[in-house]
Amino acid sequence: MNLGINIAGIELAHPIFNASGILDETLEEMEAIGRSESSAILMKSCTLEPREGNPKPRYYEDEFGSINSSGLPNKGYKEYGKYATILKAKFKKPVIASVSGMKFDDNVRIVKFFSAIQEIDLIELNLSCPNLEGRPQIGYDFEASDKLIRVVKDVCSKPLGLKLPPYFDFAHFDMMAKVINRHKPDFVTCINSLGDGLIIDAEKEQTVIKPKGGFGGIGGLYCKPTALANVRRFYEILDKDIKIIGVGGINSGKDVFELILAGASAVQIGTQFAKEGLNVFGRCVTELQDLMKKKKYGSIDEFRGKLRVISQ
Ligand code: DHB
Repeated sequence: MNLGINIAGIELAHPIFNASGILDETLEEMEAIGRSESSAILMKSCTLEPREGNPKPRYYEDEFGSINSSGLPNKGYKEYGKYATILKAKFKKPVIASVSGMKFDDNVRIVKFFSAIQEIDLIELNLSCPNLEGRPQIGYDFEASDKLIRVVKDVCSKPLGLKLPPYFDFAHFDMMAKVINRHKPDFVTCINSLGDGLIIDAEKEQTVIKPKGGFGGIGGLYCKPTALANVRRFYEILDKDIKIIGVGGINSGKDVFELILAGASAVQIGTQFAKEGLNVFGRCVTELQDLMKKKKYGSIDEFRGKLRVISQ
């Protein structure tokens, strides 16, 4: 059986790797991902300057998923350039940088910098951080997205992807797809957490995280139908050479299978990685393999996007 996939010329041994923002801020954490069965190492979204992030508690999980308002804690982009070189030498698997500049020009500068680092295989431009007070997510502003993608694409000499927020309305899918099809990035990653959710501790009658009055990005099972819908809709309306990476609520090989059936070429795991640890990658690969064997599929391409719809 062949689980291999290709994104913009970069080969991955199988379609499952870590989502940005979960246990990928430090070199040690990413070395652990390197040793795991994750098929790539995706680094924490970075800014120009190092950041401590928001006050703790800023991450909480319950049986259905998670809420976070980390506030972009990261070591600053130059460190991630160094980490990429170290990680590539040690693990020989694709290294993906994630860029989330605080300002327009920061994104341009960071992407330019990462473009010149040989050991970085792919760049994910984050248009969807929900946790910075007073800064709306770029991905919900179609004009701002258009402008940023145009300028970043111009300075980027690596395969470029966009980390998108979840959309909930066909009109918004169409508007964003128009922007994306205009600039033709190599891939899009759907979806970031559901922004500005709220989880409450009824016993304490209190919020569960401290920043932003308890509001934060929702991950895990809460997100899965929205992730499937976003992957599916973009699969339907984006140019076919723009690959889709699915993320949101993956707990099993069956979840991976569903996202691929909806149109994803690869998937990322966030909340379940935080809950279960590094074993999640190998477990999901084995479960996906078992399911494909049962269904007599020999490769990912045989079922990617082939979701059947019920006709009248
Ligand atoms: C953070 C959260 C996100 O969802 C994201 O895309 C980037 C950063 C954070 O709070 O650190």
